[in-house]
Amino acid sequence: MWDDGRLFHGGDYNPEQWPAATWREDVALMRRARVNLVTVGVFAWSRLEPAPGRYDFGWLDEVLDLLHDGGIRVALATPTASPPPWFSLAHPDALPVTADGVRLHHGSRDTYCAAAPSYRAAARGIAATLAARYAHHPALAMWHVHNEYGTTCHCPHTEAAFRHWLIDRHGDLDTLNAAWATSFWSQHYTDWAYVSTPRATQYLGNPGHLLDFRRFWSDTLLAAYVEQRDLLKAANPALPVTTNYVLGDWVPVDHARWAREVDLVAIDHYPSVVDGGAEEQTALAADLARGWARHGRTRAGTPRGPAGPTRADPPATWLLMESAASQIHTTGRAHTKEPGRMARHSLSHVARGSRGAMFFQWRAPAGGAERFHSALVPHTGADSRVFRESVRLGETLDRLAEITDGETTASVALAWDAASGWALRQPGMPSALLDGHAELAAAHRALWRAGYGCDVVVPGDPLDRYRLLVLPALYLADDATAGWVHDHVEAGGHLLVSYLSGVADQHARVHLGGYPGAYRDLLGLRVEEFHPLAADEQVLLSGGGTGRIWSETVHLRGAEPVGTYVGGVLDGRPAVTRHRVGTGTTWYLSTRPDDGTYRRLVTEAARTAGADPVCPAAPPGVEAVRRAAPGTSWLFLLNHTDRPQRVPADGLDLLTGVPADREVTLPAGGAAVLREHPR
Ligand code: GAL
Repeated sequence: MWDDGRLFHGGDYNPEQWPAATWREDVALMRRARVNLVTVGVFAWSRLEPAPGRYDFGWLDEVLDLLHDGGIRVALATPTASPPPWFSLAHPDALPVTADGVRLHHGSRDTYCAAAPSYRAAARGIAATLAARYAHHPALAMWHVHNEYGTTCHCPHTEAAFRHWLIDRHGDLDTLNAAWATSFWSQHYTDWAYVSTPRATQYLGNPGHLLDFRRFWSDTLLAAYVEQRDLLKAANPALPVTTNYVLGDWVPVDHARWAREVDLVAIDHYPSVVDGGAEEQTALAADLARGWARHGRTRAGTPRGPAGPTRADPPATWLLMESAASQIHTTGRAHTKEPGRMARHSLSHVARGSRGAMFFQWRAPAGGAERFHSALVPHTGADSRVFRESVRLGETLDRLAEITDGETTASVALAWDAASGWALRQPGMPSALLDGHAELAAAHRALWRAGYGCDVVVPGDPLDRYRLLVLPALYLADDATAGWVHDHVEAGGHLLVSYLSGVADQHARVHLGGYPGAYRDLLGLRVEEFHPLAADEQVLLSGGGTGRIWSETVHLRGAEPVGTYVGGVLDGRPAVTRHRVGTGTTWYLSTRPDDGTYRRLVTEAARTAGADPVCPAAPPGVEAVRRAAPGTSWLFLLNHTDRPQRVPADGLDLLTGVPADREVTLPAGGAAVLREHPR
């Protein structure tokens, strides 16, 4: 059984970088830190297959046996994210080509084309060889395919595959020409052979072409994953198979769609900012992962219960596969995490559904590109703050096994789809500042700061458990997405829509007749003109707030203004509106409000919708997340401040074993996990 009921603690383990004597010390230290899962072999192809068809499994045999003897389970990786030097030399056609037509060379990692037949065959080969040898090794808990699929390519193999994909999607050239609006700039295609990948070109590319290429590449990478998965499954159907998602708008992967093909959604998460933004990014990444996990399960046909947890509705489980033990990497600088911060980040993930807290990496290497990346065992060795904190984290995770029964609670849903994010970043948009991830993050941050639990949902997902649905610049809306939003409102749900949502269709063609074409009736308004703002510009809002990035001429068609623009060309015109529809209320934000204003607005929208914050009495700087199962619940309280904090709450603190009677005191930078009701 892969799942022994405990939370996982561990990370990427690269024994191929160390002499055998270190392996024994590693296992001893892992036991001290209660490490119970390690990813092995993720970049070990050149050590597993040093020459074509010549394998060296001796070291891996020994390591797996040592880990098994030490009670440590293994996510055995297929090493296909970094083919060995001999492969690239033998198959230069499998080296990736950039949009500029430059063929990249061996020397880093991820230097392959996922559409190249020779790469795919080699990847299947090493996966099948590993499966034949290890699929029944008792150390294995799961397979970890590849690492962070995302690399793109524009080589002739890719081009040929793209054409096939387009034929499948559009059927005939008339349909493709219409979808891509190719009458513009003389791009009309009369032969499939004329269609290439969107390479570097003279000026703005075609939006439909760019968007389809992203979708195609997501599907191509997915096919590469699926063929490995199928080989691994064939060798042992009982072992789950996953791959670790990398997040970011550069990633050409539709993670929601992939969620149907993995047994366990797994993400890597590295905050990119140092201040409280790191905690907000952590919460958002975890909410995204849970959303993908639930989406995958719903589509797979697992029965859902009615709103609220039931036994038939198991928690949406996923795994934080990688995070940083100590550092936050911002542009150009590594910031050392303060004591306790690594544990709080881990608990934030666990509170939001992760089956544990895993790290990149177990031991910091002396050489190699990532020699200064943090690790559970840093360069200093085990006599270090970071290792001591990882030992404490192991103890903490061990005490929390029971919470895996609980589903993270949320009364607000944020809708997100990858293609909308890709389309908003395309050239030729009215502003280069548009960023779908940033819009999602701004809405999530507002809800996070106001204390609301949120789920990130994919258009089409069930919405019956949410009082309020938020569309943060969800730019694309086909008929199905628009219908899904309308159904939610018609069923009495509340809706908050931010600018540019529902402006274009699935091919990035603008819905005509006034923006936002897909939702103007629901919102009771019509937007006539855009007034994008310069990077250093802001608009003043009545009530004292400000708006950035965007502003618009909004005409009311039934909605009432909640806030207006002050000064400038839009002086006195609606900036934020509200509209009653049936028993629900729809809200519209025509600009990106400052964080304080955004927070006030989402609080008002949530209150109107009847949604409650997780722990209304939590003081500022204390994050509260609840997981609930029938008859019981667990309240996670994370103190992100450098002072002790008192929170009114009842229950048994699983971290200390001390009952809280109407109040719990959190140490500075510390946490509590309260079992709120007897089990
Ligand atoms: C991840 C990657 C790891 C390591 C880590 C460094 O994205 O999967 O292999 O490079 O980043 O933060």
